[in-house]
Amino acid sequence: MSILVTGGAGYIGSHTVVELLKEGKEVVIIDNFSNSNPQTLEKIKEITNKDFKFYEIDYLNKEKLKKVFEENKIDAVINFAGYKAVGESVKEPIKYYINNISGALVLLETMKEFGVKKFVFSSSATVYGNPEKVPLTEDSKVGGTTNPYGTTKFFIERILEDIYKSYNTWDICILRYFNPVGAHESGLIGEEPKGVPNNLMPYIVRVASGILNELSIFGNDYDTKDGTGVRDYIHVVDLAKGHIKALEKLDKEQKGLFIYNLGTGTGYSVLEMVKAFEKSTGKKVKYKIAPRRAGDIAICYADPRKAKQELGWEAKKTLEDMCRDSWNFINKKC
Ligand code: WQD
Repeated sequence: MSILVTGGAGYIGSHTVVELLKEGKEVVIIDNFSNSNPQTLEKIKEITNKDFKFYEIDYLNKEKLKKVFEENKIDAVINFAGYKAVGESVKEPIKYYINNISGALVLLETMKEFGVKKFVFSSSATVYGNPEKVPLTEDSKVGGTTNPYGTTKFFIERILEDIYKSYNTWDICILRYFNPVGAHESGLIGEEPKGVPNNLMPYIVRVASGILNELSIFGNDYDTKDGTGVRDYIHVVDLAKGHIKALEKLDKEQKGLFIYNLGTGTGYSVLEMVKAFEKSTGKKVKYKIAPRRAGDIAICYADPRKAKQELGWEAKKTLEDMCRDSWNFINKKC
């Protein structure tokens, strides 16, 4: 019985495949390399010394997707496939709705046709929109999304709720990620955004390595400890391990829909991230204060107690680990 991982060559997908293979799972990856690199597949094999099946397909292509289900006995699906750049989603909403939502629907429809009923969904803290209060629990208000990317995640969560209610036989786990950062300790896989990074940590490491000139800190006039944005940064390996626990939960349960925040429960400001990176790596990060970025919120961090109580999962890696592993990855690449 195999685990189908859509987007398995991507940042979070590849780290999750490494953990699945370490657990002895049979893995089938589909990816179209729209936001990932083929070399990552070889790196996964190098890290784990294990093999897996791979199909270079777009999950929107139903005929090709059906072939994957015909050729493999799929027990569960983890869906990472989807575009994920907030800024790009504002410029290209139709592209995001088609790829993220239509893609998920083609996948779910094919699962139904093949009787596959265990589904783990890569959701995001963006479904909470601008939080009324923090820390965020899974019962916090959702839906006030401030960009099409977040809205696609919110809509897919609603689709999953309707599927669960109507069929009443599926096992569904929705994982709401906070801010994934870091890289595998080997430095062989990590975050490889195409072009100039939108996200903070990939930008910091490129300034530290001289690829980019200086970091623009988007606003220092928020109502936070030092005026800069506060987020819950979580090491990508901790995040990957959360998926193993989610699958274990779905194996134990007969049917159910479960929602979990995957965060550390601690918020760090942009300035704190810069200082932590400089302390961990000894590298200087040149920065300037710039105007706020449209769509940004001031503070967002998780209450991760539910995942600890029900999945037996908690983030273990420190901010130092996140900074060191991010720096190690970019150095191995250069
Ligand atoms: C973090 C903080 C910025 C870049 C988004 C998505 C989320 C997830 C992670 C997919 C903010 C500040 C950033 C820069 C800066 N994506 N910043 N200068 O926006 O919290 O979350 O990415 O899973 O779903 O919403 O992450 O890293 O872009 O920003 O000052 O060059 O760093 O203002 O306060 P964000 P981010």
